[in-house]
Amino acid sequence: MNLPPVIAIDGPTASGKGTVAFLVAQKLGFHYLDSGALYRLVALASEKQGIDVNNGPALGELAENLQISFKDGEIFLGGEDVTEAIRTEANGLRASNVATQPEVRGALVGLQRSFRQKPGLVADGRDMGSIIFPDAKLKVFLTASAPARAERRYKQLIAKGISARLEDLLQDLVERDARDSNRGASPLVLAKGAQVLETSDLSIDQAVQTVLDWYHSTSA
Ligand code: DC
Repeated sequence: MNLPPVIAIDGPTASGKGTVAFLVAQKLGFHYLDSGALYRLVALASEKQGIDVNNGPALGELAENLQISFKDGEIFLGGEDVTEAIRTEANGLRASNVATQPEVRGALVGLQRSFRQKPGLVADGRDMGSIIFPDAKLKVFLTASAPARAERRYKQLIAKGISARLEDLLQDLVERDARDSNRGASPLVLAKGAQVLETSDLSIDQAVQTVLDWYHSTSA
């Protein structure tokens, strides 16, 4: 069976992988999967339902039955537009917690793989190249230094009119990196065959172009 090609872009929080993955997908006319959004949706839904972040079985069942839909870049949970609500720092931290539960990860595997449609998919997350799409045509590990990532997040929040302290953001990000990298279930790791893209000193356009060049050289 000839499955559509996948470009897997993994990396730590605030590395810019979401923006880069989205733009690469646009350039190639591929579908785009923001897998972090799925963990963020489980986090938000579990909070609404009062489910504890350590209750793996209940979270797994919730993840299995999520009523989600994507429309024109907006995300709906049971009919409610939660595009903004899932992006808060607090919900991101909660997502990092629920994502440690193997039941949650298992419940989301099929949904993530269903995004692999013609003509191809760009998927971003933590385990796209290692677990979800181990046969990806190109695997990128996109990263930047912790201070560079904290500064990017700070600028994004300020641009949105949300007040933030750089020191707090840096501390949250270091904690989140540690949890995402040290958990037992599908930790953030450098997938076998992944190419590292260090973006601390790269513009978004340069990062996008590098991924496109790498992809074209795998297809050549
Ligand atoms: O990429 P993000 O910041 O939106 O992801 C939110 C959290 O979800 C992140 O801290 C860890 C988790 N996550 C994961 O465990 N596996 C993925 N493939 C994507 C995200």
